[in-house]
Amino acid sequence: MAFGHSLKNACDFALLALCILAGNDLAFAEDAPAVGARDRVSLNAGWRFQRWTDKPDSVSYSTMKPWIMPSANDFIKNTAKRARRPSSEPANVTFAQPDFDDKAWELVDVPHDWAVKRPFYAGANAVIGGDMGRLPIHGVGWYRRAIQLDATDSGKSLLLDIDGAMSYAMVWLNGRFVGGWPYGYASFRLDLTPYARSGNNQLAIRVDNAMESSRFYPGAGIYRNVWLTKVSQQHVAYDGTWITSGQVSDQSATLDLVTIIENLSTASSATEIEVSTDIHVWDAASGKAAAKVGQFPSVKIAVDGGAKHTVNASTTLQNPRLWGPRPLQEPNLYIAMTRLQSGGRTLDEYHTRFGIRAVQYTGDGIKINGQRVYIQGVNQHHDLGSLGAAFNVRAAERQLEMLQDMGCNAVRTSHNPPSRELLDLADELGILIMDEIFDTWNSQKRRNDFHLIFSDWHEPDLRAFIRRDRNHPSVVIWSFGNEVAEQRARNGAATAQSLKDIVREEDPTRYTTVGSNNAGPNDAFTGVADIIGLNYQGEGRGTGAATFPDFRAKFPSKMILSTESSSGISTRGTYIFPVTTSNSITVSDSQGGDPRNRYVSAYELYAVSWGASPEKVFAAQDRYPYVAGEFVWTGWDYLGEPTPYDLSRSSYFGIIDLAGFPKDRFYLYQSRWNPTVKMAHILPHWNWPNRTGQVTPVHVFSSGDQAELFLNGVSQGVQKKAISSGSYRFRWDRVVYQPGELQVVTYKDGNLWANATMRTTGEPSGLHGSTYRDRKTIKADGADLLFISIAVVDQKGDVVRQSNNAITFSVQGPGEIVTTDNGDPTDMVAFPSPERKAFGGLALAIVRAKAGSSGKITVTASAKGLVSAEVVLEALS
Ligand SMILES: *[C@@H]1O[C@H](CO)[C@@H](O)[C@H](O)[C@H]1NC(C)=O
Ligand SMILES: *[C@@H]1O[C@H](CO)[C@@H](O)[C@H](O)[C@H]1NC(C)=O
Ligand SMILES: *[C@@H]1O[C@H](CO)[C@@H](O)[C@H](O)[C@H]1NC(C)=O
Ligand SMILES: *[C@@H]1O[C@H](CO)[C@@H](O)[C@H](O)[C@H]1NC(C)=O
Ligand SMILES: *[C@@H]1O[C@H](CO)[C@@H](O)[C@H](O)[C@H]1NC(C)=O
Repeated sequence: MAFGHSLKNACDFALLALCILAGNDLAFAEDAPAVGARDRVSLNAGWRFQRWTDKPDSVSYSTMKPWIMPSANDFIKNTAKRARRPSSEPANVTFAQPDFDDKAWELVDVPHDWAVKRPFYAGANAVIGGDMGRLPIHGVGWYRRAIQLDATDSGKSLLLDIDGAMSYAMVWLNGRFVGGWPYGYASFRLDLTPYARSGNNQLAIRVDNAMESSRFYPGAGIYRNVWLTKVSQQHVAYDGTWITSGQVSDQSATLDLVTIIENLSTASSATEIEVSTDIHVWDAASGKAAAKVGQFPSVKIAVDGGAKHTVNASTTLQNPRLWGPRPLQEPNLYIAMTRLQSGGRTLDEYHTRFGIRAVQYTGDGIKINGQRVYIQGVNQHHDLGSLGAAFNVRAAERQLEMLQDMGCNAVRTSHNPPSRELLDLADELGILIMDEIFDTWNSQKRRNDFHLIFSDWHEPDLRAFIRRDRNHPSVVIWSFGNEVAEQRARNGAATAQSLKDIVREEDPTRYTTVGSNNAGPNDAFTGVADIIGLNYQGEGRGTGAATFPDFRAKFPSKMILSTESSSGISTRGTYIFPVTTSNSITVSDSQGGDPRNRYVSAYELYAVSWGASPEKVFAAQDRYPYVAGEFVWTGWDYLGEPTPYDLSRSSYFGIIDLAGFPKDRFYLYQSRWNPTVKMAHILPHWNWPNRTGQVTPVHVFSSGDQAELFLNGVSQGVQKKAISSGSYRFRWDRVVYQPGELQVVTYKDGNLWANATMRTTGEPSGLHGSTYRDRKTIKADGADLLFISIAVVDQKGDVVRQSNNAITFSVQGPGEIVTTDNGDPTDMVAFPSPERKAFGGLALAIVRAKAGSSGKITVTASAKGLVSAEVVLEALS
């Protein structure tokens, strides 16, 4: 069948009602071509985009709400509360019309963040201030793109899958309103079929970001992937499978599979569907399904048009290879391949990757496959530094890899659902996830945050979130809130209970928590979630504050977890004197802070007023080993929330800076969390021409238990690690500065362990380039990224750590600089700039190969008076 007759063809995709309007018969489905299996087409490329800071159209959420709410219906349990689409249509919108001329609009690909490449707003009273990252996230954005449909799409369901659009997304096809989803972190599906026609279709998406909508950088625009799923009208529903394991041991595992099948057909078609699911090993090396190892019993069903049918099946797998977090265990994965067949035709093929593991939540921590896993976690916001919120798999993978090198085994997705791909990566790398959905409930933190729509949307958002993420073995804890204002309010416990009830309905296999920073042991709120999640409470933040034993006494068998710990702050490579003799102190203008330059000392002893140094947290965790572990605030620096200096653009909390350079703290965590790595790390740098003769403390982070420091060959004394007195570092606080060489020799159990040296350098003489993990090839798929670090070095090749030379990047060959950065939270040069000052002797360039091209890419970094660096890469198409 060809698309020869336009009216009839329009019907091929149309709702019954539309076809009646068009005066057509409905017999076409009879001669529709055989429908193949599912086709998931990326819609990432080739959008036209425009943004306005004033009001460009007459559209608003409140007027469109009656047509938006039906998008949530699959996720609202009480059928009486589901919205019906009004019988009238909303007013036409110019920018959604097929004939609107968008040629003058910017051509962009998604994932796209319209704010991150623009200039920063500097100064006090900026339009967007420090908290939201000083970037222009606000305004209304329109995205338009054509979709071509041909004969093979006839008779199929055409489903638009948007993984994340910030925020208040609304979608039109061919000028007609389809639906929307306001929460910017949600993934959602809309059915385009009733509005589609043969040939050219015009998709239009509107997003709207208010000012004061977040406490941190939210990003702006369609910042995650967009897909068009083309599949038979009888198919596995959106996120419509769920695999759980009941009895799990090394010998066998019982598996339960729930498959939701929907029938979007309005015409007669196949009456019986056979549903069968095979289980295959997932081969991590090839990224593909390998040997078949089992299957679920197949069943035959019929599904009424417009209805859903749930199929349950169980099986037992012998000798399962279990999923567990690295480094203690291995992240083995399986893939379930579900097939829907009817009359010899395959209607749908749907794949669900999963892992088999047993999780026990106890008063003495979490056990995975019977083994206690101490949570060595970090909080991570969703932005990817200079790339902003625009999701990129390679950038996220690098973040996780560096955290794993440090010994981190868990991530809390503070405070919003992550991308789907982040969870895929966590599954593959073996990282535990505390998956979090909300930063606010009914009560606001910012004027325009989620509290505005909480009452309408908390249920659909929560159900959709859990159905999306519950097959990921990495996800072990659901969090349905963070530091909500309701903690001590009268209705707080009731709201918490209703949210927890929803979570447990959607997934009774995992425990829930909420990050609580001020609900105490006696507040009703604290007893609601399964796990007591404490932000800063318990780690000893001061007199009068509740302690871990206070919570333990009240809830002796509940798991207690530091969902947010430390909030240590520092600026990489910046050392401020004098250095506190304490092991943890609140930063101030006279203690660790430099308000003029807006830097915080990297001696890593300084924290915000509600926090504590890493070591003070370690001490509290060691004193109370029943605490399940900690999620440090934060793993990486992030855009926005630049406490304590609001004039800056990005945070000081990260263990790793915004560009991806580890701060000194990285090695402190590594010494505790990854103790088999033989390492020693000296701070500060040793270029202090003005400090000759002055006391300049030298501290060392090492996994050894004893250390001796030498300055120009003269011993400064032997130290033993004083963990029992709360010191997890070696510190020589009375070293008198003279230029030359520091060397530390460390020991463990009496044997030599690791050494490190730090030399006074000469003047900068050149630049040295290297690539992350030494990778020199890059896929020319338009998505892969390569991370190039440039160091300012002296004649001997030592990094000159206080240098800030202006570096210019250039590229020859089929590649481009995407962004540059240096990790300096005060640097207000826009991210795409090829000119970037070194900070602490280092700068970063992120490079992409031009899609479809191959060959040599040469990246050159040059700086006045210095020998240039050249990094040669190969693009593979
Ligand atoms: C909207 O536009 C369509 C054609 O694109 C037209 O048929 C319809 O009448 C318009 N609706 C309103 C309310 O103007
Ligand atoms: C899907 O719904 C249509 C319309 O009600 C019906 O004719 C058809 O048999 C259903 N398909 C299945 C597999 O049940
Ligand atoms: C199928 O499994 C789900 C989830 O465990 C359960 O809620 C439902 O009752 C089961 N349905 C049947 C028919 O057993
Ligand atoms: C050392 O002192 C001189 C003179 O006060 C000053 O110009 C210079 O910036 C200082 N150097 C450093 C590295 O602090
Ligand atoms: C570390 O230093 C000690 C003492 O100088 C020396 O004996 C040892 O060989 C060094 N180890 C390494 C790995 O350099």
